[in-house]
Amino acid sequence: MGIAFIDLQAQRLRLEPAITEAIGRVLERGDFIQGREVGEFEAALAAFTGARHVLSCANGTDALTLVGMAEGVGVGDAVFVPSFTFVATAEAFSLLGATPYFVDVLPDTFDMDAASLKAAIVDARVRGLRPKMVVAVDLFGQPADYAALTPIARDAGAVMVADAAQGLGGEMNGKRVGTLADYTTTSFFPAKPLGCYGDGGAVLCDDADKAALIKSLAQHGKGTEKYDNVRIGLNSRLDTLQAAVLIEKLRIFGDEIDARNRVAARYTEALHDVATVPVVREGALSSWAQYTLTLKNRDDVQARLKAAGVPSAVYYPLPLNRQGGYRDCPVAPAGVAVSERLAGEVLSLPMHPYLDAATQDKIIEAVQAL
Ligand SMILES: Cc1ncc(COP(=O)(O)O)c(C=O)c1O
Repeated sequence: MGIAFIDLQAQRLRLEPAITEAIGRVLERGDFIQGREVGEFEAALAAFTGARHVLSCANGTDALTLVGMAEGVGVGDAVFVPSFTFVATAEAFSLLGATPYFVDVLPDTFDMDAASLKAAIVDARVRGLRPKMVVAVDLFGQPADYAALTPIARDAGAVMVADAAQGLGGEMNGKRVGTLADYTTTSFFPAKPLGCYGDGGAVLCDDADKAALIKSLAQHGKGTEKYDNVRIGLNSRLDTLQAAVLIEKLRIFGDEIDARNRVAARYTEALHDVATVPVVREGALSSWAQYTLTLKNRDDVQARLKAAGVPSAVYYPLPLNRQGGYRDCPVAPAGVAVSERLAGEVLSLPMHPYLDAATQDKIIEAVQAL
């Protein structure tokens, strides 16, 4: 067996027979759409995170779209997003007619740079755009610096959103991801820290009115009567089968986050002399969606790791401002030099809660030998 980049089979074996039984219960009842486990999972995730409301939906991209719709984001609005992230962070708001405005990131934590955001807000106004929303990304699992970003968003009259597709399970000063911004969105894509066996996502928030609005928006804009659609919405639902899987995975999620942190600590201890290792901010707990090195000779290192049988991945090889669909979007006045550099230097190593010490040592030795 080769080394797995993410070992979902080890997790599945740990969860058997509970996961097969959970799936079996749904198959027997046949309530595939909005069945019993959907509400149960939402309540369990609310209890885990401390968020008052959890609204499940079809994927993490829809979760962002639903938040944009709930806040009336549209033409003439600027939505500030990092240039170094997965495309969905910007795409959701482009589809609503708003302008994604690209902000640079910090070189050591990979998340939104507050100084770049400040300058971007001033520039957006000069361009005649309304600062409507700031969407920070918990890239690779670490909560963004909401303590620095939220006051800037508030001063601009903008809503603060956490794109925690990669960040669920993280914490800041003991507060869990899901409670660190006005809205938190997340994804249950299989490779995410809390992943299901297909697509899934959720919005987390504390405001009861907004939660009700998002619930309606995710169900075709449903009103109180089933066939009275009081607004234009989406069809965005978490399948009952996926909710059943997620309930079982959530039971061991805290333990898996601890295991990921042990793996990350071993990498950092062994590799800080040979590469730039990721920095965890004081008071933060990362869910370690990825363990990402920064290396000047990245492509070379990746090729040599591959030859040594060690899988690795580049998240992300191009900042969003360099991608065809987003080339015309504004970027922060000082540019996004850090994002541009990171795109050429980042390399993510195998990371999952079931990475045993002997296998990790092989990975570490392969990196040290380069
Ligand atoms: C930062 C970020 N935002 C949004 C998404 C979108 O999530 P999904 O694939 O569930 O739509 C992802 C994951 O792919 C992501 O990594």
